Amino acid sequence: MRTFGPVASVATVALLAILGAGLSAQQPTPAPITKAPAATNPLQGDEAAIKYGMGLFRSRCADCHGVDARGVRSPDLTQVWASGRTDEGLFLTVKNGVPNTEMPANARMFDHEVWQVLAYLRTLAAPASTDPPRGNAENGQRLYRANCASCHRVNGVGGRLGPDLSRIGSARARDAMVRRIRGAVEDFRPGYEPVTLTQDNGQAIHGVKKNEDLFSVQIMDTRERIQGYEKDKMKEVANDTKSAMPPFGTDRLSASDLDDVVRYLQTLRGFDTAVK
Ligand code: HEC
Ligand code: HEC
Repeated sequence: MRTFGPVASVATVALLAILGAGLSAQQPTPAPITKAPAATNPLQGDEAAIKYGMGLFRSRCADCHGVDARGVRSPDLTQVWASGRTDEGLFLTVKNGVPNTEMPANARMFDHEVWQVLAYLRTLAAPASTDPPRGNAENGQRLYRANCASCHRVNGVGGRLGPDLSRIGSARARDAMVRRIRGAVEDFRPGYEPVTLTQDNGQAIHGVKKNEDLFSVQIMDTRERIQGYEKDKMKEVANDTKSAMPPFGTDRLSASDLDDVVRYLQTLRGFDTAVK
């Protein structure tokens, strides 16, 4: 009788060598995958998959997308199917992330885990809103230039005290933008936390925090100068509770003006990530 023993053990050694190399070497960034293993979710409607998917979503995605998936620091995922995205395209987005945005790649997630998360999200999917989109983007752009462009950049033009908004319409749910503009938010985008430094002579410098360690702090002041300061030379370094962005209440921006500005922001695509 022929024995397969030696063959098998050669294969095992080779496999172990590959695994060993993979574990010991610096982990290379996996190349983005360009094709999903299936065009439609093979686990859709599967109860066990949905349950696992919920757990995965809560541990890996909810920080940004919200426990209800309606978007905190991210778009509203209950609308992705209504907006025309496909299972396959969503699979690739979850695996590869959206390059150059906060949406991370999940290259280590198994294919079946990605499908589980999508099976769970499918249970939260909402139909497309039947309300026609509100607001006039042209007037929004005019208002934006007058009220916002001094601190924000869009497609390379504008101020730098606040974050670039060229992709904000894809990156945030509408409600999140509205809350931020009205000033009803207490958390700040990392790199833009408000800070006040009080010098020994009592003079205060306001700005946003770019970097901080035990001994020093680097800020961009309200004149957009980036400066580093040694903390022990300062009387006080205080994290402010109010954003460097002024709140735009109804006295500064009426409800219909707000609709126009948000509509304008929603037309911005920044750069095209060619998603399906
Ligand atoms: C660190 C924050 C963060 C985490 C964690 C995160 N996302 Fe995202 N996600 C984003 C942002 C921001 C975007 C929008 C990127 C853009 O287009 O500018 C996004 C976009 C998406 C999109 C595309 C939405 C659309 O409108 O096409 C999907 C789908 C998605 N995320 C799913 C997930 C899933 C599933 C997880 C967990 C496995 C996850 N995300 C984890 C921040 C995050
Ligand atoms: C004086 C400067 C300033 C002005 C004027 C200003 N902003 Fe901001 N904005 C900021 C700063 C700084 C941040 C980041 C800190 C934070 O999140 O509060 C920010 C954050 C934002 C965000 C959230 C970005 C994110 O990543 O989620 C949006 C949306 C926004 N601004 C829109 C606007 C709009 C619309 C206007 C005009 C109506 C405006 N801003 C006017 C400074 C400004």
